Amino acid sequence: MSDYEPVLLANVCKKDIHTLAGYQACGGYRTLRRVLKEHAPAEVVAMVRASGLRGRGGAGFPTGLKWSFLPADHPGPTYMCVNADESEPGTFSNRVLMESDPHQVMEGIILSCYATRASTAYIYLRYEYPLSFRRLRSAIDECYSAGLLGKNILGREWSLDVYIHRGAAAYICGEETGLIESLEGKRAWPRIKPPFPAVEGLFRKPTVVNNVETLACVTHILDRGVEWFRSMGTPPRPNDPRDPGSFGPKLYCVSGHVNRPGCYEAPLGLPCREVIERFGGGVWKGRKAKAVVPGGLSTGLLAANELDTPLDFEGPIRAGCLGLGTAGLIVLDETYSMIDFLHNSCRFFAHESCGQCTPCREGTRWALDMVERIKAGRGRLADLDLLLEIADSIGIIPGTTICGLADGAAWPIKNAIRKFREEFEDHIRRTNPQGYTVSEPVPALAAMRA
Ligand SMILES: Cc1cc2nc3c(=O)[nH]c(=O)nc-3n(C[C@H](O)[C@H](O)[C@H](O)COP(=O)(O)O)c2cc1C
Ligand code: SF4
Repeated sequence: MSDYEPVLLANVCKKDIHTLAGYQACGGYRTLRRVLKEHAPAEVVAMVRASGLRGRGGAGFPTGLKWSFLPADHPGPTYMCVNADESEPGTFSNRVLMESDPHQVMEGIILSCYATRASTAYIYLRYEYPLSFRRLRSAIDECYSAGLLGKNILGREWSLDVYIHRGAAAYICGEETGLIESLEGKRAWPRIKPPFPAVEGLFRKPTVVNNVETLACVTHILDRGVEWFRSMGTPPRPNDPRDPGSFGPKLYCVSGHVNRPGCYEAPLGLPCREVIERFGGGVWKGRKAKAVVPGGLSTGLLAANELDTPLDFEGPIRAGCLGLGTAGLIVLDETYSMIDFLHNSCRFFAHESCGQCTPCREGTRWALDMVERIKAGRGRLADLDLLLEIADSIGIIPGTTICGLADGAAWPIKNAIRKFREEFEDHIRRTNPQGYTVSEPVPALAAMRA
């Protein structure tokens, strides 16, 4: 790690890097020119597959494998949806790439469209990113003028158009089929899968949905090679046939109670503690960490005794979290209340649930009602098990909902209560001395709140 040289962030502070001239002066589009001359699309897919690149948008699905699901004999068109919705709390790495080095993003998009034979790419951009919008729009214009987009790119018999579609500030638009529905002009209600987008996606045509950082990695794999990419990260665990390993560079976002919040690059698998100390400058005000969200709010919490967990795709799962997610770390110092953490989390997910599935729509609301009651000093010890029962019943993992938003709502509840139960119990006993032992069924929660 000590001699690691960033690649994704290598150019972010360089002068005029956001312009075509600036990017090309640093070697930009060299890989695109070479790959289009030397490799057929299927070869590019094979290289990305061999690299072991896994999606950086949250689920960690192997990128080359996803591309290989596109039907080979389909008459087309095939679409690429670039997921730039980036609404996961604690996550801002896509923004850094798009604002600071938009042509790096464009080169990754063009190469990935070439590999998948996509003829149109839509960048689904979070609305609250106006600078990303301006930078990408001007990068796209420059690419058209330079023959890097449009008809017969670099003299090949392949054409590509790229459009930016600005979202309307809803978390659910980042879920890949919610994104597709939204692009089609409808309410962003996630679709039941299968069929998966690779077979039937945007406008019912084969579609790939990939995150901005995932696509940015593609250029570097093709430039530096598969072995370079696989030389960093965590290899598959020999006793786990389902672990494909976690390879390549990763952007870690660090926020919350640290001295130096920011977006940093390192190989996958760095221990959480090292990310906080080395990059985040340690916990602020000389305090200790009480807990850390390892990968965006929906991944849950690592407790202070779990901070040596490696931040690869498997590490946080082994520590009882949902996964690595986006590697957006939120550090909570020792003075921060877990009740406040859970209240904020439940508020977010209840607000963002799209409402299609009853367990998610009702469960996130009930959880919020209960946490509000606990916070207001009317909690009962029995509420903690009731909250866990809700959290254990909603989501794709128990199989009761269409999309993963409900899993994301559940994990902060499970981790906060299972890992910090004593704090919740103390709060309930202290703030509700008369009623904390009551365990009869609770009257309508809305009435309790009045
Ligand atoms: C509620 C919800 C929100 C999501 N938001 C995003 C997002 O903002 N950006 C993103 O890339 N992926 C997001 N995802 C994951 C996408 O559904 C999808 O897995 C990802 O875009 C695939 O790209 P990747 O394979 O390159 O990671 C979200 C998933 C869920 C369930
Ligand atoms: S799980 Fe929640 S957000 Fe996802 S489709 Fe169902 S109701 Fe909507």
